[in-house]
Amino acid sequence: MVHTVVQSSCKGHGGDSVPPLSRSLRMDAESLEQPFQPGSSVPSRVLVTGGAGFIGGGVVARLMLMGSDVRVIDDFSTGSMENLADAAYGGLQESDVLDGDVRTAEAVDIIHEWQPEVVVHLAGQSSAPAAQEMPLFDADVNIFGTINVLDACARSGVRLFVYATSSAIYGPVPAEALPVREDHPLAATGPYGISKAVGVCYLDWYRREHGLAFTALALGNVYGPDRAVRTPGVVSVLAEALLDGEQPTIYGDGRQTRDFVHVSDVVDAIARACHHPGAGLVNIGTGRQTSVNDLYRTVAATVGSSTLPRYEPQFDGSDLRRMALNSGKALQCLGWRPTIGLTDGVQLTVREIRRRRAGQQRPYRPTTEQPVGAGL
Ligand SMILES: NC(=O)c1ccc[n+]([C@@H]2O[C@H](COP(=O)([O-])OP(=O)(O)OC[C@H]3O[C@@H](n4cnc5c(N)ncnc54)[C@H](O)[C@@H]3O)[C@@H](O)[C@H]2O)c1
Repeated sequence: MVHTVVQSSCKGHGGDSVPPLSRSLRMDAESLEQPFQPGSSVPSRVLVTGGAGFIGGGVVARLMLMGSDVRVIDDFSTGSMENLADAAYGGLQESDVLDGDVRTAEAVDIIHEWQPEVVVHLAGQSSAPAAQEMPLFDADVNIFGTINVLDACARSGVRLFVYATSSAIYGPVPAEALPVREDHPLAATGPYGISKAVGVCYLDWYRREHGLAFTALALGNVYGPDRAVRTPGVVSVLAEALLDGEQPTIYGDGRQTRDFVHVSDVVDAIARACHHPGAGLVNIGTGRQTSVNDLYRTVAATVGSSTLPRYEPQFDGSDLRRMALNSGKALQCLGWRPTIGLTDGVQLTVREIRRRRAGQQRPYRPTTEQPVGAGL
């Protein structure tokens, strides 16, 4: 179990009741005392690892729209060129996308040679059940892969490291501590949460030892149109099953709660983080707990289905009964707040699924051969 506290502050937030340094990974206040300045300088070069993923595709498109020169490294194990369709329309070239693994020397060479100003590290093993099945693989990608990229950044003068971590880093949180704040101990109990928490600890070490600034965004459960990923999220899985007239399965009693946050809000948070000097650990969620049963009802109502779910025992060993993230720091540091509520977000997702089923999705037309996925 990782059990520590990553403490950081932004102007007027989080400066009090700091745990002793033996238990905390305290951020230097100076670099963090700067709230988000809209219109602050656009990062010139941004490398996005995992840029062909569900979240990554939107991030690459947004950064290009902001005027950054963007490159992607992705091994296409779960990602797809389809996710880069918007970025391709925005001018992303095939030569800007490297089919590579963040665990390799090749990834290090790219950072040394291209010298990005900001690295957004999204490449990772993103499935909690897969981590449960394959903890060694999960640790290899999520811990070793992260250190490999971090180390290259520290040696190449990268200004800022932006990292996608997860609400799972907090482990089981007592009801009275919800929505959880960033100064809550990191007490992950499952392999995915542990590997994502270890990543944050290494970020903090590289900041203290090598001066590499970071923002680690602890994301809630991200949902939205995710047609081109191999492991679609719960909203898509439920919607697809109901549209097919099937009876969806809920694992557990459905009373477990999560903080569901729409992918476009997450993309916005990551883009904002690229402007900031480094805010440490920042939660990105809605602050609302939604049970899987309530989510099911919302999806079923949107689809127009009266089918009831089937219940099966929880198979991923998850002991997280409830989760919601306090995003007050994201507002103060990044000027970020969620803009899409669950009902609207589910409607947008279902509309996109229906559009795709009707064959109306915009195809991606590569100029050369598409990269072949490396496979999990
Ligand atoms: N989706 C969520 O709910 C959620 C929540 C919290 C955190 N995160 C984190 O956000 C990040 C992005 O998640 P996502 O939902 O877009 O998942 P995703 O699986 O769609 O994206 C991950 C991307 O990384 C690539 N990748 C995987 N291993 C790689 C490797 N060794 N080298 C290079 N590329 C590799 C994949 O091909 C994929 O394109 C992940 O790190 C994930 O752990 C996601």
